[in-house]
Amino acid sequence: MSAGSFAAIIAAAGTGSRFSSPDKPKQFFEISGYPIYIWSLLSLSTMDDIDRVVLVSRESLLEEMKATVDSVFARRGLGPYRKKIELVPGGDTRQDSVRRGLASLAASPPEFVLVHDAARPFLTPALVQAVIEEVTATGACTLALRVADTIKRVESGAIVETLDRSNLWAAHTPQAGRYLWLREAHEQAASSGLTATDDAMLLEGIGKRVTIVESRTHNLKITVPEDIDRAASFSDILGQINDYAESKAIIKS
Ligand code: CTP
Ligand code: MG
Repeated sequence: MSAGSFAAIIAAAGTGSRFSSPDKPKQFFEISGYPIYIWSLLSLSTMDDIDRVVLVSRESLLEEMKATVDSVFARRGLGPYRKKIELVPGGDTRQDSVRRGLASLAASPPEFVLVHDAARPFLTPALVQAVIEEVTATGACTLALRVADTIKRVESGAIVETLDRSNLWAAHTPQAGRYLWLREAHEQAASSGLTATDDAMLLEGIGKRVTIVESRTHNLKITVPEDIDRAASFSDILGQINDYAESKAIIKS
């Protein structure tokens, strides 16, 4: 259906400082029976179009993550999909973690890469498919959600401007692009000291047009503990991911 080869990078090397979990980063917090990072790993690795998945992990937790991935994929009869996954140590910032993930693919580069935050567990196969189709057509895109609130620009505690909401979108992930574009964007940023909050911004920085794929409210990022309460209302989405993985299993449970 889609042309070209695809890899996915899952950024899972953060410390989750705003989540303030006493022992482990937020991506290890369990929802519906799995650590948060496992959910998007299931969605991305079981897509037929995606040949390789790089799970960028904190170095100190890499062996533990590997053992968890091995056991989840073995138990679910997803052995052939486990073979697509490689764990790579991350860096001090998200940007550096993604850059390392991209570098790990350099020996046999894919045509396109989807970059996803492990902290967004509600990534349905339908959203992944929409991103694959759009990046194939345009070369660079990101999931994003229309902004529902009226956004104010504030200085010293007072509003200085009300922005036109009709053209404002909140960026989600996956963000996707041609591998060579993403690699160039990240390597240039690293050598010039440019820091960006997402990959789309780096692509914009090297002059690429990044198109929008409409995201869904369920594709939220777990940032603070209260987000776990919001997440509870989306457990049906995790059911969809489970069903999709189940349909791909060689051993049906
Ligand atoms: N991330 C990463 N490497 C880092 C920092 C962040 O791979 N050095 C990942 C996180 O694991 C997360 C994603 O990037 O999946 C989005 O980042 P964010 O939500 O900010 O997570 P943290 O940086 O871990 O959280 P915080 O900013 O609250 O410390
Ligand atoms: Mg962060």
